[in-house]
Amino acid sequence: MLKKISVEDLRPGMFVHELCGSWWEHALWRRRFACRTPAEVAKVRESGVRQIWIDTGRGVDVVPDGVHPVVTADQARRQIDARLDRAAVAPRTVPEPRVEIAEELAAAKSLLTRSRSGMSRLFAEARSGSAIDMDLAEEVTAKVMASVVRHPGALISLARLRSADDYTYLHSIAVSASMAALARQLGMDAEHIRKAGLAGLLLDIGKARVAPQVLNKRGALTDAEFAAVRAHAVEGYALLGEMGITDPDVLDVCLHHHEKYDGTGYPHGLKGGEIGRMARMAAVCDTFDALTAPRPHRESLGMGPADAVRSMADWAQEQFDESVFQAFVKTVGVYPIGSIVRLACGRVGVVVDSNPDAILRPKVKVFYSLNAKMRIIPEVVDLGERGVQNRIVGRIDPAALGLRRIDEVWAAEALAALRGRSAA
Ligand SMILES: [Fe+2]
Ligand SMILES: [Fe+2]
Repeated sequence: MLKKISVEDLRPGMFVHELCGSWWEHALWRRRFACRTPAEVAKVRESGVRQIWIDTGRGVDVVPDGVHPVVTADQARRQIDARLDRAAVAPRTVPEPRVEIAEELAAAKSLLTRSRSGMSRLFAEARSGSAIDMDLAEEVTAKVMASVVRHPGALISLARLRSADDYTYLHSIAVSASMAALARQLGMDAEHIRKAGLAGLLLDIGKARVAPQVLNKRGALTDAEFAAVRAHAVEGYALLGEMGITDPDVLDVCLHHHEKYDGTGYPHGLKGGEIGRMARMAAVCDTFDALTAPRPHRESLGMGPADAVRSMADWAQEQFDESVFQAFVKTVGVYPIGSIVRLACGRVGVVVDSNPDAILRPKVKVFYSLNAKMRIIPEVVDLGERGVQNRIVGRIDPAALGLRRIDEVWAAEALAALRGRSAA
């Protein structure tokens, strides 16, 4: 049985099912592990993670101390559903997408393949200490924003499918796109939307000053290596300052995008309103991309996007600005594009487009029948269409059904082009 407990109640012998927070930023071995020794308990406590899911079927149970709450999986599910339902009923503030998703996926594909070299040049410039080409950064930001305005879902979901080698470059673009989309949903003016996109693009520029052998290391990092990675926030801030960048939002996002609402983040452990609004937005966008994309030095995170939204909803109260998180969910959806879902009719499909006015009822391309236990001829079901009774009843792990290469169901052409390019 899964139980969510306070880190204070963690004891040797428990089985950690999931840490509620950015565990990949700390020298914790993996997401899921048997916690055997007092030293391991201490390490989890040091990470700043405050709550943990334990699996009592695989390790010892918690002894409630009456001080720290123990949350059951059922209770947590209800809380998460309530939080996501709130986002679902909130009014949409952005206009309808201007183009079909397929058209924008094609545009997003060429944007990603073309800006990859530009982004790698920006990081190379930052690494060598020469001035970074701000015209280039502005140009990429303008293209990202244009894509987001045409259709906010395409670039964010396609950038997630990058290879681990492209992690940092395309992470910048993915975060830039979701920052711009989030700024629109929050009703910011054009100038602030542009700044949000630019800040997202540059927030990890300090990684240029982290040794590449640490950044690209396969396997677990040491404490010292993790500290070096975490230094990217302060390094990036210094670097942008040296380049003469004075925009307070861009600087603040770079320095504070790893701060957490409850004060457990870094580098300054700021809390709540002490964290600037753009940095609070960046924390949400950055976490989503980090959870869903593959990366070199961790067992591939690569969580499904709907799972990531749910995990973030589970942590939201402690870690994120609630109103910013709600707006983010409104932006990407409860079932973002690329999510694998199970429908009431017994078919499994992948979300291929959102319905901005009904984020629980996206367009789903079904490709598998649970009853027949086999692939079926793909067909798009628009759950948002009037009179459609079918609905999403849950998420599903395609690996459990032996299904592979699911992303090709919704992004085949874009994917072939992306992979071809990064393999070259
Ligand atoms: Fe970062
Ligand atoms: Fe990041």
